[in-house]
Amino acid sequence: MTLDHMNYIDKIPNNVDLGRDRVLQRALEHWQPAYIGWWYDMGPAESHNLEVYLRTAISVDAKGWAQFDYVKMPDYRWGIFLVPPTPDRQINFGVNKGRPAWQEVPGEFRSALRRLVVTQGDTEPASVEQQRMLGSSCPSLYDLRNIFQVNVEEGRHLWAMVYLLHRYFGRDGREEAESLLERRSGDADHPRILGAFNEPTPDWLAFYMFTFFTDRDGKYQLCSLAESGFDPLARTCRFMLTEEAHHMFVGETGVGRIVQRTAEVMAEEKVDDPDHVRALGVIDLQTIQRYLNFHYSVTLDLFGSDVSSNAATYYTSGLKGRYEETRLDDDHILSDATYDVMEVHGDRIVTMSVPALTALNERLRDDYILEVQSGVDRWNGAIAKSGIPFRLTLPHKGFHRAIGNFAGHSISPDGRVMPEAAWKNARSKWLPGSDDYAFVQSLMAGRVVDRGKFANWIAPPRRGINSQPVDFEYVRFN
Ligand SMILES: [Fe+2]
Ligand SMILES: [Fe+2]
Repeated sequence: MTLDHMNYIDKIPNNVDLGRDRVLQRALEHWQPAYIGWWYDMGPAESHNLEVYLRTAISVDAKGWAQFDYVKMPDYRWGIFLVPPTPDRQINFGVNKGRPAWQEVPGEFRSALRRLVVTQGDTEPASVEQQRMLGSSCPSLYDLRNIFQVNVEEGRHLWAMVYLLHRYFGRDGREEAESLLERRSGDADHPRILGAFNEPTPDWLAFYMFTFFTDRDGKYQLCSLAESGFDPLARTCRFMLTEEAHHMFVGETGVGRIVQRTAEVMAEEKVDDPDHVRALGVIDLQTIQRYLNFHYSVTLDLFGSDVSSNAATYYTSGLKGRYEETRLDDDHILSDATYDVMEVHGDRIVTMSVPALTALNERLRDDYILEVQSGVDRWNGAIAKSGIPFRLTLPHKGFHRAIGNFAGHSISPDGRVMPEAAWKNARSKWLPGSDDYAFVQSLMAGRVVDRGKFANWIAPPRRGINSQPVDFEYVRFN
């Protein structure tokens, strides 16, 4: 592993030569204690003395970016890492296509860029806050380690955005950086910016659904920001994506192991009635489907309105691209292109062709849905393997939406436009209710922290972390 350009002696590990810019370094060193204060208050509860087997980014090259060791989380080395610059990188889309990528914030796009950075940055501490109580009900040391890994990396993602704010946005950037530590997930007076990040994550099924669905929204947002003509943002997001991949792995395998365990118990005991399944101490597939419906639909809202002039402006200016922009074979300007979006006309859902530039949120949502579907297919593979006929399905895109063309309409999971009262009557069939949450939480009443042991409601993973055995001591309680 190489440590070139890596300053590990600084208080703040970085590969941006922080020591050369004294003013910036001091500003970030000033923000750092506020961040640590936030971590003590809002980071994982009762975790500060635990020794956790974590990976820490120490270098951005392919082999060396992750080093594993036991760390007490308040001592985690949160650092600032950008992938190395691409020589002569250009803006790859929009009206500025072909010009050199910006190394400083272009004045006319300053507030739009700041808004993009702040909105992304706000999601990072929010998810840590949402998950802070889950350690006390962990199903194993392996799972406990994984949630802590996700939490410290979301903290690092906050650092990544705060670096941009401090380095490139002057006084208002510093103020935004402070506000990022002041808003709180679910707080009535100072909520986080986006809806899904104010929803509670009350149990481990919700945590795994969140990391599968909502962290994956993060992936798609980061991918489109990694195309940005503002080069520091692009390079930051590229590196964040390497960490994000693990979060989605945790989510997909977490739900997959729960599904697998339920299907195995159903097959062994020859039961399929949800009450009987619950009585065996595993989560019935119907409840898993309701959680899926919830997390999928609130996450779809995060992509924004189907038709959005903001999205068009971000693209045309060169600030936010499409998913895998440079691999797409078109003019990357989209002035004549069209894209299909859905609208509700009376009691029918119709497809309308609109200017592609205005439909970029919808396009990103569609890219996301494709990837989500393949994860659901893999979960269904585990159910099929046990010979159980049940299949998990993604509800219709319009189901339970609060933003965009479907907002205010009552769409069933199979895509029918319904009278509102009928929809509300059926709600408890489709979305988790208080009895579902109470049941799931009753299964998770205590934590499982004996080495190699797993709660009854989840299958062990196929392999451990970093080639360690599954029964490795991933967290030391001392
Ligand atoms: Fe993140
Ligand atoms: Fe994440």
